[in-house]
Amino acid sequence: MCGIVGAVAQRDVAEILLEGLRRLEYRGYDSAGLAVINNSELQRLRRVGKVKNLSDGLDEQFLAGGTGVAHTRWATHGEPSERNAHPHMSNDRIAVVHNGIIENFRELKAELASEGYSFVSETDTEVLTHLIHKFLSESDNLFAAVQKAAQTVTGAYGTAIIDQQNPDEMVVARSGSPLVIGLGIGENFVASDQLALLPVTSRFIYLEEGDVARITRKSVEIFDKNGEQVERKVNLVDAKADSADKGEYRHYMMKEIYEQPTCVRQTLEGRLSAAGVEAGIFGNGFEEVIPKIKHVTIVACGTSYHAGMVAKYWFEQYANVSCSVEIASEFRYRKFYVHEGSLFVSISQSGETADTLAALRLAQEQGYLSSLTICNVQGSSLVRESDFNFMTRAGTEIGVASTKAFTTQLVSLLILVLALGKQKGLTAENEKEICGALMQLPGKIEQALLANKEIEDLAEEFADKHHALFLGRGDQYPIAMEGALKLKEISYIHAEAYAAGELKHGPIALIDAEMPVIVVAPNNELLEKLHSNVEEVRARGSILYVFADNDAKFQSDETQRVINVVPTEDIIAPIVYTIPLQLLSYHVAVIKGTDVDQPRNLAKSVTVE
Ligand code: G6P
Repeated sequence: MCGIVGAVAQRDVAEILLEGLRRLEYRGYDSAGLAVINNSELQRLRRVGKVKNLSDGLDEQFLAGGTGVAHTRWATHGEPSERNAHPHMSNDRIAVVHNGIIENFRELKAELASEGYSFVSETDTEVLTHLIHKFLSESDNLFAAVQKAAQTVTGAYGTAIIDQQNPDEMVVARSGSPLVIGLGIGENFVASDQLALLPVTSRFIYLEEGDVARITRKSVEIFDKNGEQVERKVNLVDAKADSADKGEYRHYMMKEIYEQPTCVRQTLEGRLSAAGVEAGIFGNGFEEVIPKIKHVTIVACGTSYHAGMVAKYWFEQYANVSCSVEIASEFRYRKFYVHEGSLFVSISQSGETADTLAALRLAQEQGYLSSLTICNVQGSSLVRESDFNFMTRAGTEIGVASTKAFTTQLVSLLILVLALGKQKGLTAENEKEICGALMQLPGKIEQALLANKEIEDLAEEFADKHHALFLGRGDQYPIAMEGALKLKEISYIHAEAYAAGELKHGPIALIDAEMPVIVVAPNNELLEKLHSNVEEVRARGSILYVFADNDAKFQSDETQRVINVVPTEDIIAPIVYTIPLQLLSYHVAVIKGTDVDQPRNLAKSVTVE
């Protein structure tokens, strides 16, 4: 969370930094700021709120200069305010932007205060800033000062520092918070996400844990955690700079919902044919691992966790392999049992979620058979640190509420189920059926999207509600959970999901005319059971919204509204039924006038615990 951009160039960089921040705003948007060196003087501008406020400020007071750092913040220490916004400065000499959390900041603060440093903010970053300044005063070498500060602090950081006395360089350091260096011609950049730099370069170096780098206009020198100079691979990124463009849509979220047929096609391309899963798609050597797999452990957070929950049903039903799914922040802090032959699977859109990454690192020490990540961001930490990876290929997802990342994660997981199932007794007939269903999926999603207008109208009925209940059974239960998460994330309506059979064990007490109940009801073997659950709710005066196949025998009347969803094969139904729930939360949020793409208090990429 929080976004960093930095540049060392001959031209004025304020506009480049600002554009970078706009592209990173999805990571945090409490406040934003930038600092540049102009004629050996640090000039800084910070604003509370969105990057737009900073850009308005720059319209009034342009900051010229070729070396600069900028930041968009998601507050951890200290409220969102101008004084807590980055960059932080020390003695008008250095400016620092920082992502992550300095855990020993209290001790360091006391020490620095006793040495005469005064603090104007409540942030841990200001402590880091004074610490670097202190070491810089001793050595007059910014690189050495940052290296020493990196050895002194504990916690996580991605940081970029400029020094008005060395205006042609920037020093950056990474530990626990991602940083990428963008290589230009006669100019170089840094950012916490390459997306920020796509308008200026397509050549990137991903820093490794513990790296500290000195960046000038013409050179990049990287030193690893042992202080040894290292060469890191230059990656060419084939992403279009305009992928951060909303196009004809009012919000990124809607654009991303509508991109799903294309994204799913991309996920399937070259991975699946009518005959089955192509060889080698999980990386060299994965086929040899499969016979040894006796259990799958899935670890993830948020929406990605819900994808894992759906996959559990699939692994056990089709691949004959047991599967457990756990929230990363829980997994990493408990003593867990490692099943023999257990494959560790992490699922993540960003590949940088701190808890998921920590869980992977822990798993690697604990005797798991192997690790695989299902991820959307090439070059991200999870991808680099897992033994195998499978890219979801959803393209850049900007809306904080995850949509296309989720459906492509589900497709990826289904491909994994097929790959495992093939060696573990999945019948040829089942394999053919699943492949056929997956091939039809983009078309089914297109059909599901046709309900947009109907759902937009329906959304009006939710705008004055304070609570909502989502119900599903079997592999649709996690879909109900995802529907509830979407609604609360962007419309701020309190929403909960229950396995429909669990209703009578408590939540039914909540039901009255003010509690809309949303039911996910495809025509599968659990339909009759679901019908009974629905009647229990109806009998208690709630208004029901049932998403169901035409032939699922639900009728609209004054207490029940039925929204038809395209009939679909059971296996892909969780993916198809996700679409109307995404549309519902989107339209409710629009009607309520919330900030759909950047809902309050949330961030897209959670790189702190
Ligand atoms: C944040 C986002 C969610 C996302 C979760 C996990 O909370 O707002 O949309 O599902 O992080 O992120 P990941 O990148 O690991 O999928």
